[in-house]
Amino acid sequence: MIPIEISSVKKSYGDLKAVDGVSFSVNEGEVFALVGPNGAGKTTLIEILEGLRKKDEGAVKILGLDPWENGYVLHRRIGVIPQNFTFFDKANPTEAVKYYADLFDVKVDPDEILKEVLLEDSTGVLFENLSGGQKQKMGLALSLVNSPELLFLDEPTTGLDPTARRAIWDVIRGLRKKRKTVILTTHYLDEAEQLSDRVAIMNHGHIVAMGTSDEIIAAHGSGERLEIHGSEELATYVRANTNLKVEYRGKGLISIALTQKTDALAALAAAEQSGLDWGEIHTRRDSLDDVFVKLVSGTIDAHGEITVENNNDGSPDKRRL
Ligand SMILES: Nc1ncnc2c1ncn2[C@@H]1O[C@H](COP(=O)(O)OP(=O)(O)OP(=O)(O)O)[C@@H](O)[C@H]1O
Ligand SMILES: [Mg+2]
Repeated sequence: MIPIEISSVKKSYGDLKAVDGVSFSVNEGEVFALVGPNGAGKTTLIEILEGLRKKDEGAVKILGLDPWENGYVLHRRIGVIPQNFTFFDKANPTEAVKYYADLFDVKVDPDEILKEVLLEDSTGVLFENLSGGQKQKMGLALSLVNSPELLFLDEPTTGLDPTARRAIWDVIRGLRKKRKTVILTTHYLDEAEQLSDRVAIMNHGHIVAMGTSDEIIAAHGSGERLEIHGSEELATYVRANTNLKVEYRGKGLISIALTQKTDALAALAAAEQSGLDWGEIHTRRDSLDDVFVKLVSGTIDAHGEITVENNNDGSPDKRRL
């Protein structure tokens, strides 16, 4: 069974289209990252999938069930960490796990669960005294109490320092190893790249790109480029003496699109032949971060078309969403 299958999901708050026709499916054992800027609609979408908010339109099947109609059954089979997870100040992680186990009417060993989330050293510390990272780990522990088949983690690492983030990554990697299906939202592209099998970039209620990070970079990023520090005159010379696409980017930076390895040799040979000065050289390819910035700073018109800077020549490129 496909754990998550949604199509054309929409949700508005008054005139604001928070989720505006989103479709995707997530396979069993897959870690799927939903990334997007503040207000993109991630939490709204996730909460629709969890059965906590009602969609306006579209089809949603979670573990084969409609989450709004079958919330009671579904909530026993999924694990959730809401955005800004919090708990009773005066409870410690062991008590919290026991409390959740009672709610779900399941028997668990709190120590075992707290060890799984790397919180075994702080089982007796009151929630109010846990660090931000420890609080998030406790949230993860609670989401695991009912041995869920599917986990929804809404920004599990926001606001944490790099070490605490990496500790949460280890826990999520552990879940991945156990073939749990996980849907994760984050603002950190490196996190999406490191942890997930596929990434969906959401902006203004739309998914603007989806796939593995390599696929997204290949579809929306610019290909490999050779960058040479040199003058506009040098750029003109290389352009005139090769078949290459040479751009002068200003401030002494020349960028040359590479379609094959020998292009770099041809470019450097022409630069040398010019007799002009040239300095540092390196090759560069768009990262997921670069692509994200391009996509979310593009403008979306009323027909759902996004105008993004074209990856190679800077001219506008319209894509249908
Ligand atoms: N209950 C609500 N009533 C009215 N508007 C809402 C409500 N919940 C969310 N919104 C609006 O819907 C849009 C999407 O919000 P949402 O919380 O889904 O975004 P998000 O991608 O999770 O953002 P963030 O990264 O900041 O968590 C925002 O403009 C938000 O202000
Ligand atoms: Mg959110």
